[in-house]
Amino acid sequence: MNSRTNGIIVAIDGPSGAGKSTIARLLAERLGYIQIDTGAMYRAAAFLLMTAEINLDDLAAVEVFCRDMDIQLDVVSGCQSVIANGMDVTHKIRTAEMSLLTSRTSTLKPVREALFKAQQQMGRRGGVVLEGRDIGTVVFPDAEIKFYLSASVEERARRRYEELTAKGEPVTLADTIADVIQRDRQDSERDIAPLRQADDAVLIDSSLLSVDEVLNLMVEMCRNKIGTAGSSL
Ligand code: DC
Repeated sequence: MNSRTNGIIVAIDGPSGAGKSTIARLLAERLGYIQIDTGAMYRAAAFLLMTAEINLDDLAAVEVFCRDMDIQLDVVSGCQSVIANGMDVTHKIRTAEMSLLTSRTSTLKPVREALFKAQQQMGRRGGVVLEGRDIGTVVFPDAEIKFYLSASVEERARRRYEELTAKGEPVTLADTIADVIQRDRQDSERDIAPLRQADDAVLIDSSLLSVDEVLNLMVEMCRNKIGTAGSSL
């Protein structure tokens, strides 16, 4: 019996700043699906490890800590909140400092194992749009539809820079480009679940496309897939 009682699984992977979060949120809205921002879960885990002052070189300590870690994504009036061990960390996890720390903590096996389990639990019934780095390759290799959303380094850094300066963060464009390059390297060169396009993922380069153009393309492909999957769900 098929366990996808709520619909199909849509996987969106790609490097940081490619627009995954915006697209995943809008796509989930259009399909009436739930959005699962797995990057936010990795950020929340990094935040918890940092505030608990866990030594990241001590994998046994990281593992013990991750065993009891509780990370929830709540949607309140269309906005996603991230609750980590009962604390609302939605905004605290979005700084440039947290981005770099998360890129490091997300290479740790105990962190990935804990979040892998949580994500499988959250998504297995379907009706979800999951975005991250390893959704189509590791978390749900059997997702009904997979996208790999990318854009040039310059375009991704420009978007991130605008986002951070709008929040009043004192960053420069040159620093933001350097951060994007460093995070790309950390995300794609790590040993466990590196950032990689799944063989069966549809590649979309958003450098020269508007959000609406990307969205409409993805909505149409998802609807076709939901139509053909309908009878077997
Ligand atoms: O998508 P984001 O920028 O919020 O992700 C934050 C970090 O988490 C990023 O460095 C990569 C990591 N990440 C991951 O390793 N696996 C995922 N499925 C999602 C994010």
